[in-house]
Amino acid sequence: MGLHILSSGGFLTSLVLSLFMLINVSHAQKQITDSDQDALYFALNLELLSAEHYSYGATGSGVDATAPELARGPTPVGGQKANLDPFFQDIFSQFALIQRGHLRAINRVIQGVERPLLNLSKELAAQVVNNAFRKTLNPPFDPYANSLNYLIWSYVISYFPPPTYVQITPQLKNPIYKSLVAGLLGVASDQETVIRGYLYERRDSLVQPYNVNTSTFIDRISELGNRLGKEGTKIEGLVVSPAQGAEGKIAGNVISADKDSLAYASTLPAILRIVYGTGDEHVPGAFFPDGANGRIARSFLP
Ligand SMILES: *[C@@H]1O[C@H](CO)[C@@H](O)[C@H](O)[C@H]1NC(C)=O
Ligand SMILES: *[C@@H]1O[C@H](CO)[C@@H](O)[C@H](O)[C@H]1NC(C)=O
Repeated sequence: MGLHILSSGGFLTSLVLSLFMLINVSHAQKQITDSDQDALYFALNLELLSAEHYSYGATGSGVDATAPELARGPTPVGGQKANLDPFFQDIFSQFALIQRGHLRAINRVIQGVERPLLNLSKELAAQVVNNAFRKTLNPPFDPYANSLNYLIWSYVISYFPPPTYVQITPQLKNPIYKSLVAGLLGVASDQETVIRGYLYERRDSLVQPYNVNTSTFIDRISELGNRLGKEGTKIEGLVVSPAQGAEGKIAGNVISADKDSLAYASTLPAILRIVYGTGDEHVPGAFFPDGANGRIARSFLP
């Protein structure tokens, strides 16, 4: 009898214990998913910027026109069809469709996301380029005027996702998010590299009508990004001093990477400082006039 009571007591204890553990586990899982979701939501802002940029540039309309279910939120302002030659029309049509896939994949794991207001206007591009050169270019830089200009502007937009994914990857807990982010990082880096590759090929080409070559344009824009990000040099030009190139031995710099030729990570506040164009993660602007969405970006806003 005594034994019986003991064992049923043991049963009760283990039942209570397992219930307790269940509650704890589901609490822990929720925390894991929340922080993973926050990180992915942060990256989604940048994927949306790319998606809308390539969609407008290649087709003249945004994601709303073809896949409205993937991007609820205000319609981006200032997007327009770029005047592309057939080769780059093909490349950027591919990029626009690739971005739709990324949005769909992210929407599968996080629900209720909202696209922030995006500024894709040529006036913004002109302003960024003026800031990069620390003078007013005349006529204003028009990112949609021709393939080279659109390639230069796409260099800016394609820069943001890779260092964001490299930054968030070590903190991810859930295997589903880890494999999704690995897949997104791979293709985001591919896009950046395709753009850098074609820019590298054109490094001596003059950007008209300024009589300044492409290499200098990319240098100035990269320096502006580094100034705003405030984390040292993480954005490198196409041609560097050999000391800054791979293994400190070569000036050609088709791929931007650190001393061990590993991809740079950027902290999320640094990414915000650059995409806001303000050098301050608390002050929205530039691509995100009302700020980026999600808990992380919003936590810096009043
Ligand atoms: C977009 O950027 C341009 C250039 O800074 C600015 O004039 C315009 O007001 C911006 N649009 C929005 C909606 O913020
Ligand atoms: C681009 O222009 C700069 C400044 O005039 C010059 O130093 C450089 O050699 C040119 N070409 C490249 C590929 O950097």
